Amino acid sequence: MAYNVTLIPGDGIGPEVAEAARRVIDATGVDINWEVVEAGEGVMTEYGTPLPDYVLDSIKKNKVALKGPVTTPVGKGFRSVNVTLRQALNLYANVRPAKTFPGITTRYTDVDLVIFRENTEDLYAGIEHMVGADAAESIKIITRAASERISRYAFEYAKREGRKKVTAVHKANIMKLSDGLFLESARKVAADYPEIEFEDVIVDAMCMHLVQNPENFDCLLLPNLYGDIVSDVCAGLVGGLGVAPGANIGEDGAVFEAVHGSAPQIAGQNKANPMALILSGAMMLSHLGELEAANRVVKAVEEVLSEGAALTGDLGGTAGTSQMADAVIAKLK
Ligand code: NAI
Repeated sequence: MAYNVTLIPGDGIGPEVAEAARRVIDATGVDINWEVVEAGEGVMTEYGTPLPDYVLDSIKKNKVALKGPVTTPVGKGFRSVNVTLRQALNLYANVRPAKTFPGITTRYTDVDLVIFRENTEDLYAGIEHMVGADAAESIKIITRAASERISRYAFEYAKREGRKKVTAVHKANIMKLSDGLFLESARKVAADYPEIEFEDVIVDAMCMHLVQNPENFDCLLLPNLYGDIVSDVCAGLVGGLGVAPGANIGEDGAVFEAVHGSAPQIAGQNKANPMALILSGAMMLSHLGELEAANRVVKAVEEVLSEGAALTGDLGGTAGTSQMADAVIAKLK
């Protein structure tokens, strides 16, 4: 059976890591018809937007996409392509595993976390305005429906994957209404899953606990902004952004992308670590039901990382993006 999948190469290091991931996925033998659609800085002049309609149309049609990072100009200009895409397609669950890899030496040996970040609201709702010339307001939206939906996704995942604990992360001591509602929703859903331990931790304390004892945590459930920040903390615990994969899941589609951005400083130099997008590709294969191929990709990545002969600069090696992908492909064969 052939699958139709949208491939968005993206900006900066995007095209290089997307090509690497595509070659690895093709090497599994799973039959994928890639529909390549360009988004980001490169199409702005021609289409007047970094996210032309054909991108959304392609994902709506194929229901599955693999996406490279897309640059968002800071402060001015267009809204983030990533945020717009997640909201437009209602990709409400951002799932980001962070697991210790054999061969990547960090201060931690036993990290195995999965982050569930609400992906559609919070301060990312994009409601901002100036109040006079010298003040600005951003509005934080938290709804019961979206909070319960991401909580249920996290608990269903935990149940399915045999995970033991869900920790809701919030700042309800200060934002009593908005974060209070998120926490109340998480608690309500937790009551339906008595077999899974539930706890809640305030976000600042959570950052300290993660740095001190990340092995004490299992699944983390967070509203959008804390999820964004804590994801990078967790990526740092296991080797950095170069190895942190992710998925944006909704009822009508799924977009798989690394946690990292377009890293413009190293773009076009064959220096970017492709593992994060390759592992996002493995998550995509699982989502398509190709579990055996997904497991083979993860195993091949782990072997390449443990052997240490083909690592990119961020992992202390000298290999290029394409050599690292070649090494993974060699293991698959
Ligand atoms: P970034 O993730 O691009 O880079 C942060 C640091 O990590 C840099 O030192 C970079 O060189 C390094 N890095 C990132 N990915 C790497 C990889 N695969 N291999 C080796 N080193 C890697 O974050 P930054 O600099 O904050 O954002 C750059 C641009 O990317 C911005 O325009 C931002 O809006 C966009 N962005 C896009 C995302 C997406 O498309 N999902 C996610 C995050 C940021």
